[in-house]
This record gives sequence, structure tokens and C-alpha cells, in this order.
Amino acid sequence: MSPFKPVFHDARQHGIVVGVALPGTAEPVPDPVLERLHPAEQAYARTLRGFRQPEWVGARIAAREALRILGAPPVAVLNDDRGAPRLDGADPGVALSLAHKRDLAIALVARSGHGSIGVDLEDLQPERSGVATRVLTARELGAVESLPPERRWTAIVVRFSIKEAIYKALAPTLGRYIAFDEAEVDPTPDGLARVTLHLARGEPTPAISARYAWLHGRVLSTVRARWA
Ligand SMILES: CC(C)(COP(=O)(O)OP(=O)(O)OC[C@H]1O[C@@H](n2cnc3c(N)ncnc32)[C@H](O)[C@@H]1OP(=O)(O)O)[C@@H](O)C(=O)NCCC(=O)NCCS
Repeated sequence: MSPFKPVFHDARQHGIVVGVALPGTAEPVPDPVLERLHPAEQAYARTLRGFRQPEWVGARIAAREALRILGAPPVAVLNDDRGAPRLDGADPGVALSLAHKRDLAIALVARSGHGSIGVDLEDLQPERSGVATRVLTARELGAVESLPPERRWTAIVVRFSIKEAIYKALAPTLGRYIAFDEAEVDPTPDGLARVTLHLARGEPTPAISARYAWLHGRVLSTVRARWA
């Protein structure tokens, strides 16, 4: 697959998802690729080192393609002081969320009138069951432990991925860190999940719609949050 090129796009329930292939190395991004970015993105990308540079650049290429498919202007996507993606300039009326691994960057874009969105990508291999006690509540751990052993890791990673997507959808509005026990996730085999929020500071609770899907040995999760 050619690096820094979109490899798929999908219209999903929570928006348009675009995936961009990455080289999987920490080599500096070639100039002709950097020159495809918005000037403000290009200037920031040139300050980045190691894997951060290709991943950040790939996510911007994915965002630009998703904005194009949505019919929105190609604004620069920088980061706010908490790391959330920030659309530079005039509000184009879109919501956006990003995720990346070393070989793939993902953007999810939707009209902001539908709510805030979050996307996450997690590897199914290698199994890292030790994360369960860090990211699941006692009730979620009980649900995982009630499953046959061969289904437990998948049940953990789906919950973990959906929680990361919830974080990305909620954190810019709440303006704070959200702990893993502030959301409980009950996935069902059809790719849906019921989410219950327990926001620690009693903020208004948005309705959450969450989905997950398999993507070449990974879990791709998308979330939409809507406040009444
Ligand atoms: C912020 C966090 C979710 C990012 O996940 P990650 O696995 O490190 O990285 P990913 O590749 O999935 O996502 C990276 C993208 O997340 C986005 N992101 C980072 N901070 C963010 C924030 N505060 N709000 C929204 N999006 C954010 C950025 O767009 C970033 O990409 P970019 O730097 O190229 O713009 C993670 O580091 C984290 O802090 N998790 C703990 C909090 C949590 O998940 N709580 C669960 C609550 S239920």
C-alpha cells in the first residue's frame, strides 16, 4: 500500500471514516507529502520527531479527505492545549476525531449539529489482559469473567476502545480528564454497545451512541455524544 494515501473510506452511522496508510517507520515524512498539508499543519508537522510526525501527518491527510467527502472546506487541523483536534479558522460546522497506529491513521468527520464524535483503533494482538483492571469497573470485570476464556480478551479490548472514543467525544466539552470508571460499556455481538456514564463532577450527561467493528485484526470504535 502506498504510504500517506487514503486506503478506505466508509459512511458509517457516526460519520465518514477515512483510513490513510502509513509507512510504519519513524523516517521523516518526505517534503512532497508535507507540501500537501495546509500551511499551518505543515509548519507544525516540521517540528515533530519520530513516529509522531508520520502519524500526525497521516491523520491530517485522512481528515482532509473526510472533509472533502463531507463537502466541507479543507481547514487546518491543529491541536488544542489538551491535545484534542482543533479546526483552525472559521467554524465549518463539522465535528472531527482522529486515531492512529504506526501503519494506519483514521479520521472520523460528521456535521457538528449531530453532536460530538470520537474514534478509536485498538490492536487485538498481542493480548494484554493486564489492562482490564485499569480500564474496567468491577461490574464490567464481572461481565468479562463470566465469558468463556477465549472470548475475554476481545470483550476487554472492545470496552477499552469504546471508552477511548468516549473520551475523545466528551473531553473537549467537559474540559477535563475523564477516568475509565466514569463510563460503563456493555457491547453486544451485533457491533453496538450500551453506555452508562457516571460523570464524577455531576455534569449534564449526554446521550451516547457507540459502535464497534473489526478492521483487519483491530477494533475500530466510533461514538457520538449529544447533549439535550
Ligand atoms: C487521549 C487518548 C484517548 C488518546 O488515545 P491514544 O491511544 O493515546 O491515541 P490515538 O491514536 O487513539 O488518538 C490520538 C488522537 O487523540 C486525539 N486527542 C488527544 N487528546 C484529546 C482530547 N483531550 N480530546 C479529544 N481528542 C483527543 C488527537 O486528535 C490525537 O491525534 P493527533 O495528536 O494526531 O491530533 C488517551 O491518550 C488517553 O488519555 N486516554 C485516557 C483517558 C480515557 O480514555 N478515559 C476513558 C474515559 S471513559
